[in-house]
Amino acid sequence: MKHEIGWKEKAKRAAAKEAVKRVEDGFVLGLGSGSTAAYAIREIGKRIREEKLKVWAVPTSYQALLLATENHIPLTTLYEHPEIDLTIDGADQIDAELNMIKGGGGALTREKIVASASKKVIIVADETKLVKKLGVNNCPVPVEVLPFAVSYVAREIEKLGGKPVLRKSESKVGPTVTDNGNFVIDAYFGSIETPDKLRAELKSVSGVIENGLFIHIADIVILGGKEGIREIKKTSI
Ligand code: 5RP
Repeated sequence: MKHEIGWKEKAKRAAAKEAVKRVEDGFVLGLGSGSTAAYAIREIGKRIREEKLKVWAVPTSYQALLLATENHIPLTTLYEHPEIDLTIDGADQIDAELNMIKGGGGALTREKIVASASKKVIIVADETKLVKKLGVNNCPVPVEVLPFAVSYVAREIEKLGGKPVLRKSESKVGPTVTDNGNFVIDAYFGSIETPDKLRAELKSVSGVIENGLFIHIADIVILGGKEGIREIKKTSI
């Protein structure tokens, strides 16, 4: 029996495909992480094969690096290209201001660096990622933490009103270890009223490498839904 893919996967793929249309010859690209960004990476590979598109890419994780290699996407580094033309990435939640929670896949630090180094950032997701307020539906803010500091950071997160949960690895015992050799604390704050303030507060805790609040980073959000795709700009919600 043929396996039917659900609307969400189709929607994610359609959003990714639309974003990849904006890739131009000669671009240095940031490759995001997660299942939606993976559709974009495969689509970039397709354009390279079919159109002889010339691009170089900086991956944001080992997942992105391996997938880019499989798809014969030439790789480069931030050392060589500290300025990136376009990054395409996914998100866990997106609000009306195009602020986001990212890091469900634990790649938040490199994702934030690569996005910050980019002239343009396009976020691709299915429409269920769009929320009125970040943090609703029990969505945590991932915080990458130096292992040495994990208990101290957990206590500081509590002082900020969050419930810290050390992320466990799924197929290895013990904590998740990021591509940078750190731990991830998922910090549950509930609905976040002032995301930029919380971003700055988390950032200022010693031992915190980075947090998953991405504020004023996305330029365009392309959402896939049952009825097709739509592009969101700050004023159109
Ligand atoms: C990884 C991320 C991902 O972009 C985010 O978790 C969304 O993933 P998906 O597209 O699989 O829902 O931030 O750190």
